[in-house]
Amino acid sequence: MPAIAVIGAQWGDEGKGKVVDYLAGRARMVVRYSGGNNAGHTVINQYGEFRLHLVPSGVFYPNLTSIIGNGVVVDPGVLLEEMDGVRQSGVDIGNLYISDRANLVMPYHRLLDGLEEKSRGKGSLGTTGKGVGPAYVDKAARLGIRASELLDPATFRQRLSFILEHKNAVISAVYHAPPLSIDEIYGEYCAYGEKLAPHIRHTEPLVAETLSKGEMVLLEGAQGTLLDVDFGTYPYVTSSSPMIGGACTGAGISPRHISGIIGVFKAYPTRVGVGPMPTLIEGEIQDMVRERAHEYGATTGRPRRCGWFDGVAAAYVSQLNGFTAIAVTRLDVLDVLPSLKICRAYRCNRERLEHFPASISVLEQCQPEYEEVSGWLTSTSEARHWEDLPPQAQAYVQYVEEVTGCPVAVVSVGPRREQTILRSPLL
Ligand code: IMP
Repeated sequence: MPAIAVIGAQWGDEGKGKVVDYLAGRARMVVRYSGGNNAGHTVINQYGEFRLHLVPSGVFYPNLTSIIGNGVVVDPGVLLEEMDGVRQSGVDIGNLYISDRANLVMPYHRLLDGLEEKSRGKGSLGTTGKGVGPAYVDKAARLGIRASELLDPATFRQRLSFILEHKNAVISAVYHAPPLSIDEIYGEYCAYGEKLAPHIRHTEPLVAETLSKGEMVLLEGAQGTLLDVDFGTYPYVTSSSPMIGGACTGAGISPRHISGIIGVFKAYPTRVGVGPMPTLIEGEIQDMVRERAHEYGATTGRPRRCGWFDGVAAAYVSQLNGFTAIAVTRLDVLDVLPSLKICRAYRCNRERLEHFPASISVLEQCQPEYEEVSGWLTSTSEARHWEDLPPQAQAYVQYVEEVTGCPVAVVSVGPRREQTILRSPLL
């Protein structure tokens, strides 16, 4: 069996967890490959209710190995807290491993995330404030501390001392904030190291071994392609690559092993944080969609902006990732709308754009060109087969297929596992 990637196709929060859950029964391993505890999703199962930010949801399946890949930045305090919560509910987490190459989120990353955002004033990026961006900056600057270093306290102290001197200079000289203490950070992180030691290891050979046995590896994305640091709405993006390229580098896997790339689209896009969203729904309808679907950030609780389906962005994201199948989630949320808008092109300075622009100032000026289609005004939450969906809902899903050029294999009509329509084989 090959590797299958589950990728967010909008600005995150598309419902990737449900697709991973759906496939997990057939898989042997789940690898989270990007982001950090800026992501978050709620898992409800026989063990209870969990809000997970770092621990892959595969941890609840006894036959699965769960891996936090090298492409993730790990806040060890947050990870240990999540691991404790999961363990206390009776789940064995012996099969959870963290790549020794994963960079760590350090206290100065969290501090700098807040200070940098404040100093940007009106130009703030709306980050989650978890230190994820500054941790990736340090990774690229070769000033990161990796999980493996927690296992070697003497070298860890030397590197921390060198890095912290530099960080403290910035914290006090640029931001006029009090410097951080090396002894406190060292003590705190050595304690984390002792607890995490049994879980830190070379994870790439584990992935390779699983694939060589012909077993399925699921590559679990965080965030979404429109937040990608290269292809998203830069600079209003996250600092990693949530798309298919990031899956290879963030899990340590060759693209030749990947045979399925599943794009997850919510039936209406949402966006939390700052940055343009051309198809934002105006007024009361947006409030209604938000309340109906409880669209509030799982990490920060901020309200998510809700939009009409953006075909321009969807075509672009689909082309970048080369999706082999699509899952459309939360179709049921639209059940109450008498009519829906879908966007096939943008208008910008009298020009018609069918491609997603790179420039944020162009994107901010883009006006969506909408086509209005009729809604279905029927509950779809009990639909289990494609034929159960009203024709208007089928047409809406087919529109997603048309703009992406990719089959919609799964339609989700509610949070429960059984509220899923399998239209064609996912793999
Ligand atoms: P950061 O990743 O915390 O630096 O935040 C950068 C941008 O990405 C902000 O607009 C965040 O709201 C957004 N973001 C980060 N993680 C997620 C996520 O899991 N879902 C949705 N938006 C996210």
